[in-house]
Amino acid sequence: MTIRYDEQQRIFHLQAAQTSYVCQIAANGQLLHLYWGKRLRNYSAPANRYMPETRAFGTQVPFGDTLASPETIPAECPVFGTGDYRTPMVHAQYADGSTVSSFVYESHRIYGGKPQLPGLPATYVEQDEEADTLELVLRDPLTGLKAVLLYTAFRDFNAITRSILLVNEGQQAIRLHKVLSASLDLPQASYDLLQLHGSWARERSVERVRLTPGTKSIESRRGASSHQHNPFIAVMEQDAGEDHGQVYSMNLVYSGNFVAEMEIDSFGSLRMNIGINPFDFSWLLEAGESFQSPEAVLVHATHGLGEMSRTYHKLYRTRLCRGRYRDAVRPVLVNNWEATYFDFNADKIEQIAAAAGELGIELFVLDDGWFGQRHNDASSLGDWFVNEDKIAGGLKQLVERVQEKGLQFGIWFEPEMISPESELYRAHPDWCLHVKGRDRSPSRNQYVLDFSRADVRSEITKRMKDILQSAPITYVKWDMNRHMSEVGSAALPPERQRETAHRYMLGLYAMLEEITSAFPDILFESCSGGGGRFDPGMLHYMPQTWTSDNTDAMSRLYIQYGTSIVYPISATGAHISAVPNHQLGRMTTLETRGHVAMTGNFGYELDLSMFTEEERALAKEQVATYKRYRELIQFGEHYRLASPFEGNTASWMIVSEDRTEAIMLFARILAEPNVSRLRIRLKGLNAQADYRLKLLGSVPAEGVLGGDELMEAGLLLPQMKKDFSSVLVHLAQV
Ligand code: DGJ
Repeated sequence: MTIRYDEQQRIFHLQAAQTSYVCQIAANGQLLHLYWGKRLRNYSAPANRYMPETRAFGTQVPFGDTLASPETIPAECPVFGTGDYRTPMVHAQYADGSTVSSFVYESHRIYGGKPQLPGLPATYVEQDEEADTLELVLRDPLTGLKAVLLYTAFRDFNAITRSILLVNEGQQAIRLHKVLSASLDLPQASYDLLQLHGSWARERSVERVRLTPGTKSIESRRGASSHQHNPFIAVMEQDAGEDHGQVYSMNLVYSGNFVAEMEIDSFGSLRMNIGINPFDFSWLLEAGESFQSPEAVLVHATHGLGEMSRTYHKLYRTRLCRGRYRDAVRPVLVNNWEATYFDFNADKIEQIAAAAGELGIELFVLDDGWFGQRHNDASSLGDWFVNEDKIAGGLKQLVERVQEKGLQFGIWFEPEMISPESELYRAHPDWCLHVKGRDRSPSRNQYVLDFSRADVRSEITKRMKDILQSAPITYVKWDMNRHMSEVGSAALPPERQRETAHRYMLGLYAMLEEITSAFPDILFESCSGGGGRFDPGMLHYMPQTWTSDNTDAMSRLYIQYGTSIVYPISATGAHISAVPNHQLGRMTTLETRGHVAMTGNFGYELDLSMFTEEERALAKEQVATYKRYRELIQFGEHYRLASPFEGNTASWMIVSEDRTEAIMLFARILAEPNVSRLRIRLKGLNAQADYRLKLLGSVPAEGVLGGDELMEAGLLLPQMKKDFSSVLVHLAQV
């Protein structure tokens, strides 16, 4: 059992691999958070637990035979109203207008396995033995609001998942103003926060800051998890680093508005919360109704960020992603977006496919512009009908022409959007998110379809299915290119308007479930102007994500490094694009662009028919090399060696689980004058084994070195005399 209950002490001890998570039913019936950290054998000595304390200006509530100030109590499900002044997990308003809640323990259940969350993405188990689940029922006795806290402890991962189900078992409606997915209080310590922030074309920059008294929040109010902030936080002890020290992290399995809060109170303890953003959210819970929060994944590491990342990677790769492609190596693709933008026809597509076929590329992806009157980004979203002026002979014939060149065929959609300049909008102007009487604010000349509405979803689903059934399509890129504004739904009554953004997400997930199950042989890749929705929610339906619209190899060092903090390489799309780079104008060699892209889900995004002989030869070698090592790259264990956020170099490596093979990328961003050759210490190898090293690319070189030497003395790198230079090294145990 990974979850034990000590009836006498009323303590729940969750043991997930090397982690312990402990909570207790307190003398006042409240649920206390006692411990989260390295695995313990037991946690039971009463003298070593929370001792009730009262504070000046604190309220005093009964706590067994004494009194306690709620603001001193380490809580597991904090609510508002009786004197815990820190930011709560649940904030509800009752029929009498009051907002005071008080949750007390009612019952619990422990069982093997992990239940699904209705309508929401979540991690899962394949066998009940992989995890135990604890369902803890709390109740607000006055109103009948019931809270079911759901915890799952994984046997093989240092991961615990949490969510909450609120059920209105009273007689009158309740308004939920805030329902987070997880909350806990860590004891006095000095903590740093590591967050992933950014913007379009520079997603997931790593930022580490000291947490100081007060509340720090990371959030999205944009209707998507966003490029701006990832729904992830890592709280690190101040001496923790990449390979050592304690890290406490939370990641929300959700693709919409979220908040992660960290509040250091006046007494030095830290409250960590994550969940749906309460900003502009409220939910009317009629008597008998329930509300299920998304899932939060809590990962603890004792050996630093690297260990934390590897836990997320494997958990997400094997127990969040689903479907046929979860365990299958991903195809090398070519996408025509940066090759042609909207300016293509069937002959041009065939030309690119022909060049791709000669290189050994396996999949052609037809991006934006194949439908309606879509000649630029000003029209036609929603009109999912093939434009036969561009694609003479229709889609089926185009797919056949591509297949004849030896490639499979994939296609782009942006299902959640509508162009005001479209047949769909002319027929259904009320189908987008909007507020009656107010102007609708366009972004990229488009509005967001109201996916909280089943009728809207069902029409778009039908149009997509018609296309997907019309030809042998094996891949779909699901794009989403604007954030929400004028968030309102024509289908919801006034008192439910603030439910729109979350209902949209529920609708989106329902549609994703329907389409991905209807086409189990299609590989789906999610995208939102690159990596604007790179979150675990989307990964549950689509096992890979287009990491960023920024394809510059140097920018990608930062973006892929930051992405690797939480997300696995099997989820990380990385393509070689043309130079000068379309986003930055930067020139980098094809070799370096290849090295960087080959440490992701590899592909090309340029007009391959324009390659010179020399470029063609190198690209052919790149494709062959990637295919040879892609299983290792896509499914190996990831170790970060040097951070571009901290210096002029970036490096990471991927090691096979049995440690017999590895691949290492090292890149130097700018050349430096008159410096010694660089040396880098590798990680994750078998110290007892010897490895044959092979430099991949234009200067092959070989040698045999010990795993211990490589990890302790390090690897001496070749001279790197130019800006934007890199090496890719393969290591095989001899
Ligand atoms: C944004 C995506 O990130 C790009 O790759 C491309 O698909 C465009 N949208 C097409 O409009």
